[in-house]
Amino acid sequence: MALPACSIVIFGATGDLTKRKLIPALAKIPLAKSTEIVLIGRRADNAGLRNEFLAFTKDAKIAKRFRYIQMDFNKFDEYKNIEVKHDNRIFYLATGPESFPTITKYLERAGLASPKPARGWHRLVFEKPFGYDLQSAQKLNHELTQCFTEDQIYRIDHYLGKELVQNILVVRFSNPIFERLWNGRYVDNVQISVMEQHAVGSRGAYYDQSGALRDMVQNHLLQILSLIAMEAPTTAESGDVHDEKVKVLRQLRYVPDSLVLGQYAAGSISGKHVPDYKDEDGVGKRSRTETYAALALAIDNQRWMGTPFYLRTGKATGSSYAEVVMTFKRGSSLFHGKNGQPAPNKLILRIQPDEGMRLQFNLKGNDCCADPVLMDFSHKAEFGMNTPEAYERLLADVQRGDQTLFSRWDEVEHAWRIVDGLRKVHGKTGKLHAYRAGTSGPEEAKKLLARDGRSWHGQ
Ligand SMILES: NC(=O)c1ccc[n+]([C@@H]2O[C@H](COP(=O)([O-])OP(=O)(O)OC[C@H]3O[C@@H](n4cnc5c(N)ncnc54)[C@H](OP(=O)(O)O)[C@@H]3O)[C@@H](O)[C@H]2O)c1
Repeated sequence: MALPACSIVIFGATGDLTKRKLIPALAKIPLAKSTEIVLIGRRADNAGLRNEFLAFTKDAKIAKRFRYIQMDFNKFDEYKNIEVKHDNRIFYLATGPESFPTITKYLERAGLASPKPARGWHRLVFEKPFGYDLQSAQKLNHELTQCFTEDQIYRIDHYLGKELVQNILVVRFSNPIFERLWNGRYVDNVQISVMEQHAVGSRGAYYDQSGALRDMVQNHLLQILSLIAMEAPTTAESGDVHDEKVKVLRQLRYVPDSLVLGQYAAGSISGKHVPDYKDEDGVGKRSRTETYAALALAIDNQRWMGTPFYLRTGKATGSSYAEVVMTFKRGSSLFHGKNGQPAPNKLILRIQPDEGMRLQFNLKGNDCCADPVLMDFSHKAEFGMNTPEAYERLLADVQRGDQTLFSRWDEVEHAWRIVDGLRKVHGKTGKLHAYRAGTSGPEEAKKLLARDGRSWHGQ
């Protein structure tokens, strides 16, 4: 379907997000002929700045759509400089969240945006962090909804734009062989891991105010969990999908004594020294911010009774990957595995890198043992290398007006309730386990599963 012509106005155009993600994505998607890209920044417009923009895209044609406006978005008077040629408008806030209320208020006051535009449509796009806790998220949402309605707001969680995350619903609801087994009767446990090899680097000052629970669990991990655990929506329409996701978030319960938080200590990754987290630029010398979190959640409903969902995420770990591993219960078997019982069946959804799916099952090996083997589907091998990047898909969806892959406010709100609860639990114990940079995380995370007679996939 052709994308409608519109004006895409990006606040914070000279920032990292615009240059690294938005411009390259916009250069790749098939924009309508007259769509313009209005770039707003504080810096003077000159050849150096234009070259900087171009350096981030391989396609010089996109530059013909650019119009750069130098302004301070905290000054209302300067909004008169913003000229847009279309009634269909996207306002992308690629700035710190502290600026969101000011920009939206001034956009409305200047007549550039309206909750009920007389012609065309007006849409607001921004990324996490959606607040720092439930209270600040509610305040931010209250301020934004003074100027935009929920159906105009597109909250980006870029994980939802990833091919394999989008695939979760297709795999579940178009394959009866999986659909029938997708419940606590057959599934022993579900593990969701999002690991990042890089340390905090230049983002220390931001990260130290946030930590793994707020930066990763509140959004990416709980979003993935709700897609894995939700009931079948009535239709694949955005509203129905979000309704089912919210139900899961409301039914989530923290499994007592299961929260493991950690902070990386000096170590090495790919032969390079990584300093202790507390010695990173912008991080407090006595910081108690967690760079690693692992926990177990239960879902109080018929489908998932008795099946724990284990979540873990960490920075400066041995490798970068995101995956969901569903381990099935063992049945009776005529045959032995190499170490006693045959290995359990597993379904592994690899979100990144090397997007794909793997199914582990047992076959006869060279002797009469039941040996586990992997049936491997690689997304790129099957569908080619041109899989759209998450931002391409999401930016196209904003233009189409499809909110399915964006976080709805009630999801954000419930996710914050869970994370605030976890932070309270941590406040009581105060335990923060050190782990060496370049390892898989603190030993206590292994013990968390070992106490249930399980282990993390791959360990
Ligand atoms: N970077 C990422 O990959 C990423 C990923 C996920 C989420 N996010 C979120 O996306 C947002 C933007 O992140 P970022 O990394 O791109 O931030 P950034 O590099 O600090 O960019 C912020 C931009 O805002 C501009 N700006 C600040 N104050 C201004 C003012 N008063 N008037 C006009 N322009 C002003 C800055 O202009 P100057 O150049 O003049 O300073 C810069 O262009 C943040 O909310 C962040 O949490 C970013």
